[in-house]
Amino acid sequence: METNRRSFLAAAGVSALAAGASALEAQTPDKPLRIAIIGSGHRAWAHLGILKSLPQYQVVALADPTPANLDRGASLAPGAKTYSDYHKLLAEQKDIDAVIVITPSFLHSEVTVAALNRGLPVLCEKPMATSVEEANKMIEASKKSGKTLYIGFQKRLVPVTIKMHELAAAGEIGNIEFISANLFRGDWNPESWKYTDPVTGKATNWRYLTLTEGSALLEDGIHELDTLNWIINSKIARVTAAGGNNVFKDRETVDHAAVIVEYESGVKLSFDFSLFAPNAGPTSRRMVIIGSTGVMTPENGQVAIRSHARGPVRYVDVTATAPKVAAGVAGASAQDPETYEQYLRFEQCVRNGKSPLVSPEEGKAAIKMVLLAEKSIRTHRIMNWNDLPA
Ligand SMILES: NC(=O)c1ccc[n+]([C@@H]2O[C@H](COP(=O)([O-])OP(=O)(O)OC[C@H]3O[C@@H](n4cnc5c(N)ncnc54)[C@H](O)[C@@H]3O)[C@@H](O)[C@H]2O)c1
Repeated sequence: METNRRSFLAAAGVSALAAGASALEAQTPDKPLRIAIIGSGHRAWAHLGILKSLPQYQVVALADPTPANLDRGASLAPGAKTYSDYHKLLAEQKDIDAVIVITPSFLHSEVTVAALNRGLPVLCEKPMATSVEEANKMIEASKKSGKTLYIGFQKRLVPVTIKMHELAAAGEIGNIEFISANLFRGDWNPESWKYTDPVTGKATNWRYLTLTEGSALLEDGIHELDTLNWIINSKIARVTAAGGNNVFKDRETVDHAAVIVEYESGVKLSFDFSLFAPNAGPTSRRMVIIGSTGVMTPENGQVAIRSHARGPVRYVDVTATAPKVAAGVAGASAQDPETYEQYLRFEQCVRNGKSPLVSPEEGKAAIKMVLLAEKSIRTHRIMNWNDLPA
């Protein structure tokens, strides 16, 4: 095992990750972390592909009630024991070190609380939960057990995002005053798990129902909103939004939204979201951060800074701070280096008690801002931060 780890780390070469990883290696015992994955659908298969290239982890158990999905997960985790019921997994698997929660979002809270109550650290996929009350239960369980709860916003680890966070904190564009951002994408995966809609009795894509998805913006858009909260670094005062179902009319959750967030610091954020723009090209993801002295935006994998005083554009290279998958590691890890890096960070939390990059409180703030936007869409009213529970 140690030989594997050493050659793996040596292959990483001289990079920020390699520097971080060697510090990690000094504290890492030989034994891989034994983990259980609860929820074995599309996102879990991506996780499992990445875990195959991380000798620090061994997937020993998987739980999912859908046999075909469980089988596919098991094919990516040879030797792992499979369960149709996660309660049974948690009751039987006495020798696991952590749990990864990748169920549909409405189950995140109950599964996470059950794992934390068993004394196990948890990496829970975004969104943290579908209500503030559920998020509070998770925070409480983490505090009571003293175990890590890491919320999986891996897109904070996108190189330009890390760099923009760093540049904003260093005051490179003065004080942040206003942000315009958007996510224009195609519709949800039609192969998503089906939930029996209690109203119609029909098996329905869980992403179409408010009960199971919470809000379309909790499913996507929340990555960008969390990232911007991180960069803006202020509490939220009010949220207002408009949205609806202009194209996908036969579902509860919206297919577009325009959201305006007012922060206590005075910053305003305008965020637009569409599910019916599968080919929006360079306009699909925009983030324009306007400060008191300049404008900052990602451009072609770099951060572009334009001073209000004009002059040449300054392009900031992000390769030095970018999380890198170890050289020679191919497949899912290379395609999703942020989730790979997230696993390295989670390992540090579990083994060394490091604080997660995304705290449960930040995970809760992100869902609360989205749930207020959802409420605003439904009621056509401006929402104050205390219009949902603390
Ligand atoms: N971080 C990201 O970029 C990212 C990307 C995609 C999805 N996600 C999140 O991952 C989660 C899962 O999404 P997905 O795309 O895999 O959905 P999916 O529909 O493909 O899979 C969900 C799986 O959960 C299983 N499931 C249902 N009830 C369960 C239970 N009681 N116990 C265990 N498993 C159960 C289903 O059988 C299915 O296999 C969602 O919360 C989603 O928001 C995150």
